[in-house]
Amino acid sequence: MAVAQKSVPRPLHVDFCGLSLDSPIVLLSGCVGFGEEYTRIEGFSNRDVGAIVLKGTTREPRLGNPPHRVCETPAGMLNAIGLQNPGMDKVVDEILPQLDFSETRFIANVCGSTIEDYAAVTRRFDDSPIDAIEINISCPNIKEGGVSFGNYPEMSAKVVAACRAETKKPIIAKLSPNQTDIRQNARLCIEAGADALAVINTIMGMAIDVEQRKPVIGNVRGGLSGPAIRPIALLKVAQVYEVAGPKNIPIIGQGGITTARDALEFIIAGATTVGVGTALFYEPLMCTKINDGIADYLKRHKMSSVSELVGSLRL
Ligand SMILES: Cc1cc2nc3c(=O)[nH]c(=O)nc-3n(C[C@H](O)[C@H](O)[C@H](O)COP(=O)(O)O)c2cc1C
Repeated sequence: MAVAQKSVPRPLHVDFCGLSLDSPIVLLSGCVGFGEEYTRIEGFSNRDVGAIVLKGTTREPRLGNPPHRVCETPAGMLNAIGLQNPGMDKVVDEILPQLDFSETRFIANVCGSTIEDYAAVTRRFDDSPIDAIEINISCPNIKEGGVSFGNYPEMSAKVVAACRAETKKPIIAKLSPNQTDIRQNARLCIEAGADALAVINTIMGMAIDVEQRKPVIGNVRGGLSGPAIRPIALLKVAQVYEVAGPKNIPIIGQGGITTARDALEFIIAGATTVGVGTALFYEPLMCTKINDGIADYLKRHKMSSVSELVGSLRL
């Protein structure tokens, strides 16, 4: 239980839409519960991560999808948790007061079935100590037959604009890869008031139990994450950087990062911070290794900060 506090070398410090982070590593939504699941692991220190994104939160509590909710795939996993969470009131009133805001930054992950839902949850977090608000625009829109808000640039922008009207805290729009041109979505979300972008959320996939001829995942389809999606995610980050870089809108690059080398690829492609999600399920302490690897790279290349490397891809 005892946690050795290790101070992260200063070169790893990054500024991210007004937040001062001790490390470019962000723990991703849905992979660390509400922050308590990893703080229990021996050797884990919040100080090894720049920020923790909490589990997706909705207006009302949700029980989530029927099992199976996850299944392993080649170099990745499918998940369809169904946004199980205790609802915004419990998160703000009971969970946030338990978190140690002196150790790291905490980011809410806002979900909804309607634009009004997204606005209501954002308003609830606005009146809380949370450091920033990430909007998970990949949720199904129940007023439009269940299509994901995030698959359509105009719908994504409407969600961001509605949330923007409810808060002055930094807003991070989490973009879906399940669309034709992610650049257009990024452009409209920035115009609607996003201060940062998270790239990418999971890619929709499916697995079948051939003996039973039934889908493995209770929800039939699920989000694919892990190393299987990394090259796709990297390309999306490079594409979004074309739009976001000139406007100084930072990106949380994510999708299958498991090593310092992976993290460096995303930073060079244009990410200011790098998210780690699925990898934590099998190696919860990998953040220390990733920090050390990035620091070592900066030293070898005689760079004094991560920001020198952001978007430094030579084409
Ligand atoms: C089990 C699980 C639950 C997730 N829940 C959420 C969620 O509640 N909200 C969200 O925006 N993303 C959610 N995600 C997506 C991750 O935050 C992340 O964007 C994605 O998994 C890609 O990163 P990775 O390959 O490092 O896991 C979830 C992912 C997994 C694997």
